[in-house]
Amino acid sequence: MKVTVDELQEHVGAEVTLSGWVVHNRPSGKVGFVIVRDGTGLCQCVVEKTRVSDDLFEALKHLGTESSLSITGTVRAEPRSPGGHELVVTDATILCPAVDYPITPKEHGVDFLLRHRHLHLRSQRAWCIGRVRHTVVDAIRRFFNDEGFILVDTPIFTTLAGEGEQTLFAVDYFGQPVHLAQTGQLYLEAAAMSHRKVYCFGPTFRAEKSKTRRHLAEFWMVEPEVAFIDLDGLLGLAERFVTAIIQAVLERNRSELQTLETDVPALERITPPFPRLTYSQAVDILRGERTARFLADELADLQRRLAKVETRIAQIEAEDARGGLKKWKQEKNAQELIALRRERIDLTAAIENNPKHAALAAEFTWGKDLGGSDETILSRMHDKPLFVTHYPKAAKAFYMKVDRAEERVVENFDLLAPAGFGEIIGGSMREDDYPRLAGRIDELGYNPEHYQWYLDLRRYGSVPHGGFGLGVERTVAWITGERHIRHCIAFPRMMDRLYL
Ligand code: 4AD
Ligand code: MG
Repeated sequence: MKVTVDELQEHVGAEVTLSGWVVHNRPSGKVGFVIVRDGTGLCQCVVEKTRVSDDLFEALKHLGTESSLSITGTVRAEPRSPGGHELVVTDATILCPAVDYPITPKEHGVDFLLRHRHLHLRSQRAWCIGRVRHTVVDAIRRFFNDEGFILVDTPIFTTLAGEGEQTLFAVDYFGQPVHLAQTGQLYLEAAAMSHRKVYCFGPTFRAEKSKTRRHLAEFWMVEPEVAFIDLDGLLGLAERFVTAIIQAVLERNRSELQTLETDVPALERITPPFPRLTYSQAVDILRGERTARFLADELADLQRRLAKVETRIAQIEAEDARGGLKKWKQEKNAQELIALRRERIDLTAAIENNPKHAALAAEFTWGKDLGGSDETILSRMHDKPLFVTHYPKAAKAFYMKVDRAEERVVENFDLLAPAGFGEIIGGSMREDDYPRLAGRIDELGYNPEHYQWYLDLRRYGSVPHGGFGLGVERTVAWITGERHIRHCIAFPRMMDRLYL
């Protein structure tokens, strides 16, 4: 019977056929072990010389990584095997043998892996992250559907600059210069005046010239927009929304989180309410004693960790140099060294950055937008996502509603994910007053012709409304503990990367 690895528990004792790819092949004289993945999980297949033909034993023995095959055998419960079952092989058909698969267990640089993304997608980490992303996307849709939001698909070709003119991708649209949408929000505002609660969910484009770990040129964003809401209502919505996403992942992806070595208890702590700070309070914190102390403690901790890593590296290197190690021990050491050296690079970078970040924080002046390192500091001080509200008007997008009680700030918020991940949501109340909005568009020198329809929304039945946008890749990075968001989308687009 044909089954998949995730169904094996229902077939213990029975003979079944799996189809998949070879992850790892450990042949020996009498018994071979072939780890097979089939897209649903991993299964160890035990090939005993006495149970299969000589030809098959030989053929399986030489089968390379990522060869495809179908393999038949009896299912046995085996707690030590990945997935908890193994297959005692009786037969197999090799579909496509793979020779010299380019990705090997040895360390490959990020660049190499991204150039081999079409193959690297098969790796355990990429597989786990892909599944978590799937849950996140599904949870997003469910949340808004269950809350009575209407999905509105907004256009990708647009003449509007929703999020500033610095990051527009220009496109020739039948001879007219237009660009790719940075946000669906402005269109969504129009739709909210029809359905009251709406959301859009699609790819968005920003010509980000920075190559940071938080920026892609093409990323997926979900944006809800609600008529007759206030800032407090928006924060409540965002809080419930993020909690629902985390809950879904905890329910459905425990084993992936475990493989990814995610801090699961930290995710379990994510329950409403989330802490809130105004921008002005955040500035005081950044410039204050507490931040200076926090960063100094962190530096000491980083240095301690680096010293430990150095000691362990030296130990292993000495062990290797003495020689005479068994093959499995050599391999184990090699793997550990790869991980340790990677950690050494990260720690060294963090130690170098710490004083720079401390200086930036101490010298922060009111009026600037929070930078990546400022967000990192603030979000590291909290173990739940942190709302920062009421930013300076000058640092934010033209559509944000000016706070009538303090006109230098807007009614907006960013949600910073904990443990240093930084912004995952940006949102605001929208300026609903015609003269103020028209004035702002004028002030910024935007082409008023392009914004006439948007201004119409403030001419005919304007109401208080607002919304926010959550970046899918940043959310997946935070949840999985993946440092760089380029690993949180199947085929990342960045300034220096478009090969596949
Ligand atoms: O803060 P942003 O720019 O907000 C907007 O686009 C609003 N129009 C949303 C709204 O109010 N409807 O972007 C929202 C989120 C960010 O918090 C971040 O998670 C993600 O989109 N994001 C990016 N993700 C990856 N790469 C980039 N270059 C991103 N820029 C923004
Ligand atoms: Mg933002």
